[in-house]
Amino acid sequence: MSLDKLSSNPRLVEVIKLLKSRDIEIPNVFVETGTRGGGGINAIFSTCDVDGMISFEINELDVIKNRERFSEIIEGGTLEIIHGSSADLLSSHINDIGKSVFFWLDAHAAKPKQWKDGYTQEEFRLENKTDYPLQWELDSIINSNIETMIVAIDDIGKFWISKNAFPFNYDDTVSFLKDNNFNIIKCRGEYEIDENNKKSILSHNYLDDDAINAGCHYVLIGHK
Ligand SMILES: C[S@@+](CC[C@H](N)C(=O)[O-])C[C@H]1O[C@@H](n2cnc3c(N)ncnc32)[C@H](O)[C@@H]1O
Repeated sequence: MSLDKLSSNPRLVEVIKLLKSRDIEIPNVFVETGTRGGGGINAIFSTCDVDGMISFEINELDVIKNRERFSEIIEGGTLEIIHGSSADLLSSHINDIGKSVFFWLDAHAAKPKQWKDGYTQEEFRLENKTDYPLQWELDSIINSNIETMIVAIDDIGKFWISKNAFPFNYDDTVSFLKDNNFNIIKCRGEYEIDENNKKSILSHNYLDDDAINAGCHYVLIGHK
């Protein structure tokens, strides 16, 4: 099956374009968290030179479907689809995959939820590790032996809108990247956004699904 007949994540394609237009070197090794329909895998293999890619997915049916869908690439040895939670598995797979790696972090629960009364943010975070793996993914990346990297976090607007609904929210993510000396680009596809846009994103009511869909598709890129 040719890749161009399959759906591709348009934001990831635009992110690749944006990075190329800025002469930011794109690594040949890729890691994706959250495979779902395979749109991220398709975007990478359609737009980049790939020496290797690993994609993590917690939903077994998606794993089976995509192993079938990308069977030729998997047999060729450049793609591996791993079943399980990226929060638990990423750290044991990313050492020694390359000195320079592109991460597409896209694993998260479909809907935000508030943490319960009486819980601290830290308690909620620990109890919902599988639903919100981002913090653990970032820890694994920072503690790996990878030297240069691009970390692109999709749907970051969801974390932005639902500030109190996520155990590791947008501001936590930006602080984490800054504290770890990443250069930051905030974009919606190929368009860069700035802090002023935050107001219009925040004005969405995050309990309204349409608003989530309209507002969540921002990508936060850290590179170093
Ligand atoms: C937004 S979709 C991914 C879309 C895909 N990356 C793309 O670019 O088209 C999110 C996926 O993350 C998966 N997921 C959620 N939590 C996860 C976890 N802890 N580990 C791995 N996958 C997870 C969900 O099952 C879902 O398939």
